[in-house]
Amino acid sequence: MIRVALLPGDGVGPEVLPVARRALEIAGADNHVDYVFEELPWGADHFLATGETLPEGELRRLRGDADAILLGALGDPRVPGNEHARDILFGLRFGLDLYINLRPIKLLHPGLCPLKPRPDGIERVIDMVVFRENTEGAYVNIGGSFKRGTPDEVAINEDLNTYKGVKRIVRAAFEYAVERGRHRVTMCDKANALAYAHGLWRRVFAEVAAEFPFLKTEVEYVDALAMKLVRHPEHYAVIVTSNLFGDILSDEASALIGGLGLAASANLHPGRPGMFEPVHGSAPDIAGSGTANPMAAVLSAALLAEHTGAPRVAAALEGAVAAALAEGVATPDAGGAGSTAEVGDWICERIERGP
Ligand code: NAD
Ligand code: IPM
Ligand code: MN
Repeated sequence: MIRVALLPGDGVGPEVLPVARRALEIAGADNHVDYVFEELPWGADHFLATGETLPEGELRRLRGDADAILLGALGDPRVPGNEHARDILFGLRFGLDLYINLRPIKLLHPGLCPLKPRPDGIERVIDMVVFRENTEGAYVNIGGSFKRGTPDEVAINEDLNTYKGVKRIVRAAFEYAVERGRHRVTMCDKANALAYAHGLWRRVFAEVAAEFPFLKTEVEYVDALAMKLVRHPEHYAVIVTSNLFGDILSDEASALIGGLGLAASANLHPGRPGMFEPVHGSAPDIAGSGTANPMAAVLSAALLAEHTGAPRVAAALEGAVAAALAEGVATPDAGGAGSTAEVGDWICERIERGP
């Protein structure tokens, strides 16, 4: 039995998450994995009604009671300061010390890549993973403001980097490369400008790389990498980077494989319950229109299955999404004309029927 805490959240979250849940239930039943869901109400509605974001004690309970967390998205125009979203999302990432934010970028159908064909005519194979540091960097909320709202305002957000924190994410990227037979690890930083913080990243990267002499390694500045990602995406296999750069690069990279509607993520700390969520947010511009792409949520559920010991369930989910794309069954963001419900039903029926 795998106990999954389900947090649909806001906006399109509650529209796409039921598809992911159903996909897990069907593929689980086929593979003798029993998924048991506990749905939690945390999000903007609950916050506006009760003032509660992530209730005291819930982290401790989840650590004991859940094997994984599946989250939709958080963010609502009625909470312009985003305080509930930060409390819940960062509460889970930081509170459970989920230091690895693993974001695969895999092209599941050639038609989804917006780049023009390669000059040599070879079909593009885009298959990389971004290892985003997930518990420190610019996200630690250390800082403050002074003389707020006046022309003399000073605003500070510190960028915190620790030897331990950098080392564990860099090591996770290398270990993943070895386990998955990936030949290259690229570290992305801005050491030419942020000499202290990213000087540390460079030293740690060299130290860890020395333990893996059989892997190709390289360091690239974030500005150049952002450009090369578009020009030669095939070059990259594993990219390891800081919290903020990983956030930005993963949205950019998602555009290479069909957009945010197809980008999944896993927040991990080996040995603890992980949290799985689409890379996209609550998409208030399309929420309620029935057009949200459920594929990122289904692919996030596939990551959940993979990381809770059910690779066949993961393969069934990913295979069904790829099959939908091959058949042209997709929402408008991915070039189709289907609704969330139509695409979701197709994917679930495909899982039920088998390939
Ligand atoms: P967003 O990811 O919600 O949307 C960006 C664009 O992508 C929009 O045009 C949207 O329509 C489109 N898009 C996103 N998901 C889609 C899907 N499944 N199908 C089709 N199109 C999709 O980013 P944003 O607009 O910058 O943020 C909206 C809110 O979500 C904000 O409050 C933000 O803080 C929050 N957010 C939350 C998370 C999270 O909970 N993990 C992630 C990102 C943003
Ligand atoms: C993501 C999101 C969040 C982040 C936001 C909502 C704070 O963009 O998960 O990528 O920056 O981590
Ligand atoms: Mn983001």
